[in-house]
Amino acid sequence: MKAWQVSRHGEPRDVLELTEVPRPQPGPGQLLVRVLAAAANFPDALLCRGTYQARPPLPFCPGVELCGEVVQAGADVTGFAPGERVIGGTVLPHGAFAEYAVMDAASCVPAPGTLDDAEAAPFYITYQTGWFGLHRRARLMPGETLLVHAAAGGVGSGAVQLGKAAGARVIGVAGGPAKARVVAELGADVVVDRSREDFVAVVKEVTDGRGADVVYDPVGGDAFRRSVKCVAFEGRIVVVGFASGDIPQAALNHALVKNYSILGLHWGLYQRLDPAAVADCQAELTRLAAAGQIRPLISERLPLADVPEGVGRLADGVTTGRVVFLP
Ligand SMILES: NC(=O)c1ccc[n+]([C@@H]2O[C@H](COP(=O)([O-])OP(=O)(O)OC[C@H]3O[C@@H](n4cnc5c(N)ncnc54)[C@H](OP(=O)(O)O)[C@@H]3O)[C@@H](O)[C@H]2O)c1
Repeated sequence: MKAWQVSRHGEPRDVLELTEVPRPQPGPGQLLVRVLAAAANFPDALLCRGTYQARPPLPFCPGVELCGEVVQAGADVTGFAPGERVIGGTVLPHGAFAEYAVMDAASCVPAPGTLDDAEAAPFYITYQTGWFGLHRRARLMPGETLLVHAAAGGVGSGAVQLGKAAGARVIGVAGGPAKARVVAELGADVVVDRSREDFVAVVKEVTDGRGADVVYDPVGGDAFRRSVKCVAFEGRIVVVGFASGDIPQAALNHALVKNYSILGLHWGLYQRLDPAAVADCQAELTRLAAAGQIRPLISERLPLADVPEGVGRLADGVTTGRVVFLP
């Protein structure tokens, strides 16, 4: 089968190589799936660079999230039939940027019938992260103000939709006028183009000085450092990621003085430590999708040949929504 492999760390365009490799065998608790659609996630770029929290041994095939068709179940796996359409995360080194991939059966769920393959591919990690960040960690309430950074991006666009579905007033921040238009189309109540406007001033203005109750931050760096200036009394900042490459330091005296909370989010831990909550979340996400309240924004549907360029542009910060590869 064809698979993109990383055999040395570096920028995605430099280190991804298309290779012919044997089809993997699913181990105990695993599923072999034919990849129908693979979503590009920022961690795929970090995996290529060798700077992600997980560093699989070289060589490996990246691609952490997919929609696939079950081909074969490993020993002791029950409940999945060949041909079943599923979504979920992959088990590296057999990631999704290939014709076939390996999934952990325990964290594999049916693909929602209302979504096509490309839309279903990012309907697991991307939306689970948003739901756990906003609801489990930040306890977002209807009527509260939610500030979303990188709101035109993958997890950001999901958070905008989930915030609106939860009855929040959503302020979306994005880099540049084209991305700002995307955020408006996603339904954000207020859009800030960070290349032209200071989001701190806008948040203060539209909340009469109160600030944002919840901040969803996949960017870090200045996005975090400036968010503490416009977080409300008893506000919650959810630390989702560091797409800027800058991991900021928090001033705890400032959190004390202003009564705000800084909440870490590592969604993957819930799969291990609270799988029942992950299952409940997926049921709720599927319900919201069926009701038309959330729908993954797929900006590009590319062939497998375009993986290095697609992941490269995601790493460059110039994509919107999710880029998806269709083998
Ligand atoms: N905590 C968790 O469990 C969890 C789960 C999934 C993902 N994540 C994290 O969430 C973050 C976003 O992931 P994603 O796949 O959805 O990516 P993405 O948001 O689609 O892309 C990253 C966005 O960050 C912004 N950005 C600001 N400075 C940047 C820079 N120097 N380089 C690149 N981008 C920059 C850009 O948006 P603007 O130009 O519009 O600002 C860019 O589009 C990543 O850090 C990822 O690791 C965390």
